[in-house]
Amino acid sequence: MARRKMIRGGTVWSETGSLEADVIVGADGLIERLVERSNAGGEPAWAGVQAEVEVIDASGKWVLPGAIDSHVHFRDPGLPQKEDFRSGSAAAAVGGVTTVLDMPNTLPPVVDSAALAHKQDAVGRGAYVDYGLFGAATAAEDFGVHLARVDELVAAGVVGIKVFLGPTTGNLSAPTWGELHQLLAAKGGETLFVFHCEDRSVIDTARGRVPENLAFTYQGLLASRPRVGELLATDGVLRLARESGARVHVAHVALAEATAAIEGAKREGARVSAETCPQYLFLTEEDSETVGDSLKVLPPIRSRADQRALWEALASGTLDLVATDHAPHESASDEPLRAWEGNFGMAGVQTLVPLLIDAAIAGRCRVCDVVRWTSAAPARCFSLYPRKGALHPGGDADLTIVDPGARWQVERPWWQSRSENSAFWRREGRGLPVMTMLRGEIVARDGAVVGDPQGRMVARV
Ligand code: NCD
Ligand code: ZN
Ligand code: ZN
Repeated sequence: MARRKMIRGGTVWSETGSLEADVIVGADGLIERLVERSNAGGEPAWAGVQAEVEVIDASGKWVLPGAIDSHVHFRDPGLPQKEDFRSGSAAAAVGGVTTVLDMPNTLPPVVDSAALAHKQDAVGRGAYVDYGLFGAATAAEDFGVHLARVDELVAAGVVGIKVFLGPTTGNLSAPTWGELHQLLAAKGGETLFVFHCEDRSVIDTARGRVPENLAFTYQGLLASRPRVGELLATDGVLRLARESGARVHVAHVALAEATAAIEGAKREGARVSAETCPQYLFLTEEDSETVGDSLKVLPPIRSRADQRALWEALASGTLDLVATDHAPHESASDEPLRAWEGNFGMAGVQTLVPLLIDAAIAGRCRVCDVVRWTSAAPARCFSLYPRKGALHPGGDADLTIVDPGARWQVERPWWQSRSENSAFWRREGRGLPVMTMLRGEIVARDGAVVGDPQGRMVARV
């Protein structure tokens, strides 16, 4: 049995503010209590128990609830040349992320309970952090098959059902709008549906019409994926959410107009949540000149005006959270590819907390915003709150200790992912996760994982 621990001397952050407090973690891996350090002097409430506890010194540091990255692709099983659960979850742990929700475009894709069981077997012993798994709804022969597969995936414990409306890694098909209408109406109440919003037909048509002189440029990529494709898909999904009452989450929002549409749907009472990602908050199309192909993600990174709208939508609550869409790939071949060919996605789970904490230190947002966007909100959206997402007594002792004074640079040996396809490679910043604790056990310290993988599959609360 683990020992009780006391994380002493730190500043404890929540989504609403901070407290000068010590955190007592029970031997059961749950938060026992927070003990505020009063100015009044005298014996603190934990006096006398010190001898039995392991003391972790956090003076001068920030203690945050462990981050939850609700959108990762750890490529396990089936694509170990890109990543596996061990390397992906090591990147999570070292980066201050204690729970990941993994997408179903693995091999075989998670479209039924047999594929889910296979994936659970494959990933179970390699997880340094807790994890949830998504199932996918894809095209099927008839509606009864859709419904039966979604039912069995939900019964088997997926965190939600993913639908890829446009062509992306894995090239999973999507149910038709008609089938989605029936599916959301039938399953909407209890099941969370997550959508990749890009319309396939818009992309298929546009791709053949990109001027040849743009074929090898970032502008060519943007021309092959017109904004209207994202907006049609987003509008359609929001309409379905309104009509069906279903619980819908919009993945990787990248466009200003999409945030306006989401705001409208929320105002009308639709049960909608939405995320954006660091690549859309910290990069724009202008970066294609310096970072080249590592800017290639789906949906594409666009303009400065879009970037501004995303920050505003996060601040207003129109966008609920920040997830990374961690999408590792092997390095591109030397042969030049057309802008719409090749791999799309960047590895990002390890840079989520450092980038946002650096933004908070620079005054772009507040530390409590970072806690809301990366812990409390994803825990609520994916039904993990309050067991995860906050440092509350009785909740899992998942936490990240950040040294606000430490400078970082994105490079090895700190970098844990098998792939280096990040547009943030070599980027520098301030505020580094120096210790990560999962259910009361230290899983990463000073840029390396500690011990054997102990991650478990999470259940919705
Ligand atoms: C993702 C991947 O590679 O799995 N790529 C990406 O560019 N976002 C797939 C996805 O999320 O669409
Ligand atoms: Zn996607
Ligand atoms: Zn994704």
